[in-house]
Amino acid sequence: MSGCPYFEKKHLLFKNKPPNPEENDASQAGVNKASKGGILYGDYLQLDKVLSGQVLQSEVKGNKIHDEHLFIVTHQAYELWFKQILFELDSVREIFTSGHVRDERNMLKVNTRIHRIVMILRLLVDQFSVLETMTALDFFDFREYLSPASGFQSLQFRLLENKIGVPDNHRVPYNRKHYRDNFSGHDSEMLLATEQEPTLLKLVEEWLERTPGLEVDGFNFWERLEINIFDGLNQERENIAEMTDSEEKEEMMAEVVKQKELFTSLFDEKRHDHLMSKGERRLSYKALQGALMIFFYREEPRFQVPFQLLTSLMDIDTLMTKWRYNHVCMVHRMIGSKAGTGGSSGYHYLRSTVSDRYKVFVDLFNLATFLVPRHWVPKLNPNVHTFLYMAEYCDSSYCSSEDSDSEPSHSPPERH
Ligand code: HEM
Repeated sequence: MSGCPYFEKKHLLFKNKPPNPEENDASQAGVNKASKGGILYGDYLQLDKVLSGQVLQSEVKGNKIHDEHLFIVTHQAYELWFKQILFELDSVREIFTSGHVRDERNMLKVNTRIHRIVMILRLLVDQFSVLETMTALDFFDFREYLSPASGFQSLQFRLLENKIGVPDNHRVPYNRKHYRDNFSGHDSEMLLATEQEPTLLKLVEEWLERTPGLEVDGFNFWERLEINIFDGLNQERENIAEMTDSEEKEEMMAEVVKQKELFTSLFDEKRHDHLMSKGERRLSYKALQGALMIFFYREEPRFQVPFQLLTSLMDIDTLMTKWRYNHVCMVHRMIGSKAGTGGSSGYHYLRSTVSDRYKVFVDLFNLATFLVPRHWVPKLNPNVHTFLYMAEYCDSSYCSSEDSDSEPSHSPPERH
């Protein structure tokens, strides 16, 4: 007799009828198309190449170390994702350089792709935790076999930094040498080319300079903003002056003076140019105005997508910084303060790269310093308001929608 209490009563379990896989099983209703020819999964993805690329140097040298497999796969996964980021980035730069961005419908495409980059970077920041399941001793077991290979030699990582807009003169030198000296031949040429091509920063800057509402002979946002801010600050000073003398009054007055200095510097173009020459500001004066305008009027329909784009650009900077930080923390844990396999001081070198000098869209972060109460923001006049609210005929999605990566058949509308 079976020990299973259900065995005796199995007729109760299949009271109606035991399921017959041949009959009415929706999960089995498909047809196996693969047997009819055509490209198969492994060929489509060229898995023979991808999956045969994990050669453990420890094994080659006759001392196979288990964790080297994880080390290699992790780096390869990173490089594949770098490749995808570069692919998206190039397509976005192409939309900008070809002028297609003047057709505002394309901004959605730019935005979607930049957002995709953000999502990939999020993954890459977290991905270090998988490699951190390896202990320092496990790494020590095979580290000597990979020397002098080093992540420093990652061409794609450098291309990425260059294409976003990390400037050459902001980079930390590598053992007192230029980063490109560690590359040669075609790789070095590619790097040089990306230093000279328009970066994402430059392209965004040109686009921001065309922000509608900046025209001096039109809405003239900048002048109106300046007037409103100084009127507002003067009004505040008058209100404070009427208060009875107290420590609080003094503090409030000092704050107004500080705010005045801050805004005087914002509206001083010469000072802006000086800060730019020192690398402390990266966007042109006009582009900065455009960005601030988008920040203030972000709820207007035509500024919603641009605002999301600016937010994503800051996300890229933040995530690249987090990537550097997570990487250096892992490196510290794995090799302490030993020199890197590539020959740098290791942890100390990497720590010096986790800094604002590698931030590309630093001006967008700093804009928050210049936010003012909503009622100081210039009211949109009916013309500008309609312009920002209504989609023009050519911007409408009801227009014939050719793939915007290709040449548009109508002349794109200019941003005014
Ligand atoms: C056990 C894990 C790792 C260790 C101990 C490590 C160590 C180092 C060290 C010491 C450097 C400085 C250059 C040198 O002297 O070699 C470096 C640079 C670099 N590593 Fe790693 N790394 C690890 C994992 C990774 C992974 C998974 C990636 C992903 C691609 C990566 C990418 C890079 C890049 C791009 C640089 C250049 C950073 C810069 O110069 O700003 N590393 N790594």
